[in-house]
Amino acid sequence: MAAEIRLEKVRKTFGKVVAVKDMDLVVEPKEFLVLLGPSGCGKTTTLRCIAGLERVDQGKVFIGGRDVTALAPSKRGIAMVFQSYAVFPHMTVAQNIAFGLRMRHTPKEEIKKAVKEVAELLQIDELLDRYPSQLSGGQRQRVAVARALVMRPEVLLMDEPLSNLDALLRLQMRAELKKLHREVGTTTVYVTHDQIEALSLGDRIAVMREGEIVQLDTPNEVYDKPASVFVGGFIGTPPMNFLRAEVKSTDGEVYLAVGDFSVEVHEEWQGKLKDMAGKSLILGIRAENIEVRSTPGEGALPAQVVVSEPLGSQQLLTVQVGSDVLKVATSPDLAIRPGQTIGLVLTKGKIRLFDEATQKALKLD
Ligand SMILES: Nc1ncnc2c1ncn2[C@@H]1O[C@H](COP(=O)(O)OP(=O)(O)OP(=O)(O)O)[C@@H](O)[C@H]1O
Ligand SMILES: [Mg+2]
Repeated sequence: MAAEIRLEKVRKTFGKVVAVKDMDLVVEPKEFLVLLGPSGCGKTTTLRCIAGLERVDQGKVFIGGRDVTALAPSKRGIAMVFQSYAVFPHMTVAQNIAFGLRMRHTPKEEIKKAVKEVAELLQIDELLDRYPSQLSGGQRQRVAVARALVMRPEVLLMDEPLSNLDALLRLQMRAELKKLHREVGTTTVYVTHDQIEALSLGDRIAVMREGEIVQLDTPNEVYDKPASVFVGGFIGTPPMNFLRAEVKSTDGEVYLAVGDFSVEVHEEWQGKLKDMAGKSLILGIRAENIEVRSTPGEGALPAQVVVSEPLGSQQLLTVQVGSDVLKVATSPDLAIRPGQTIGLVLTKGKIRLFDEATQKALKLD
C-alpha cells in the first residue's frame, strides 16, 4: 500500500519567486521523510506540487511509478493534513472521518467498519459522537489525521500538523505520530520548520533553503555531519559553533590555528589538509563536544565568558574567542562569572571543517 514518490527536476515559480528550484527527490515506500527549512524556503509548495494542488512549471512527479504530473489531487492516491487541520464543525467526529469515503460512495457498512478501525488506532473511538468544538486541540488533530488515514492513501502528506498545539501536546502527538507511522507504514512527507520535530520523526531529513534541498540524510548524519555552515547553524539547540581557523603545517605536522592557539586534527585528515596550508577555513563544533575548564591552562583554547545562563540540567555559556562568539554547555555547578577567562577543549573527532568561500563541508572522511 505504500508507494514511492519521485520528483524529477520539479520547478515551481510564483512570478519572480522560484519557490521550488529544479528539485530531484526520491521518497522510498514506507519512508517518513521530513522537509525542514526556514520560513519561505519552499516546503509547503513542494508538498502542494506532490499533492497536485500546484501545477508545476517544469519537471515530473511520480507516485508509485506512475506519472501523476497532470493528474488532479483526487486521482493521485494521496491524503493531506494541513497546519490548520480544518475539520467540519457541523459534523461529528464520525461524520468527519467518514466524509472522504462517502464522497467516494463507499458502501455504508464498509465506512462504519473503516471509521471504527482508524478511530481505535488513533484512540478517539470514545469521541465519535462529539462535535469538534467539544474536543481538545490534540483530539481535533487526531481527527484530522484519522480522516486522512481512513482513505488508505498510498502517500500521506502533512504540513506542520502540530504547529497549533501547545508544547506539551506537541511532544505527545510527536510520539503518537511516530508510533502510528510504524503501525500503518504509509509513505509520509512531513513539513516542519521545527528541527527537533524533524530529528525526532524523520527516517531522513531533507534540509531546504531557497527552493533547493541542501542536504538529504538521516537525522544523525544531518546533525553530526552538516553539509554546510547553513545546515550546522540551522539544526541543533544551540546551533553549531563556528570559528575562523587557518591550516598550518610545521615539520610535517598539520594543525589548525585559531588565533595563537593550535588545534590538533585527525591523523586521517592530515594528508588532505597538508595541501591546504595557509588556507582559511571555518571550524564547526557542537556545544556538547566542547569541554569547559574554569581556567585556560595547557591544551585549552582561551575564551572569555560573556553571559552565563542556568538552564536547569545545564549551564549555557556565551563566550568569545577572538571575534567569534560561541555557545558552550557545562555543568550548572561550575561557578563561572561573566568576564572570566575559561579554557575550551574541542573533541578532536567531532570537529567539522568548512570552506570559507563556499561555506560547504570539506570532504575529508
Ligand atoms: N500562491 C503564492 N503566490 C505567490 N507567492 C507564493 C505563493 N505561495 C508561496 N509563495 C512564495 O513561495 C516561496 C515559498 O513559499 P512556501 O509557502 O512554500 O514556504 P514554506 O517553506 O512553506 O514557509 P513557511 O515555513 O513559512 O510555511 C515564498 O517566497 C512564498 O512567498
Ligand atoms: Mg509552509
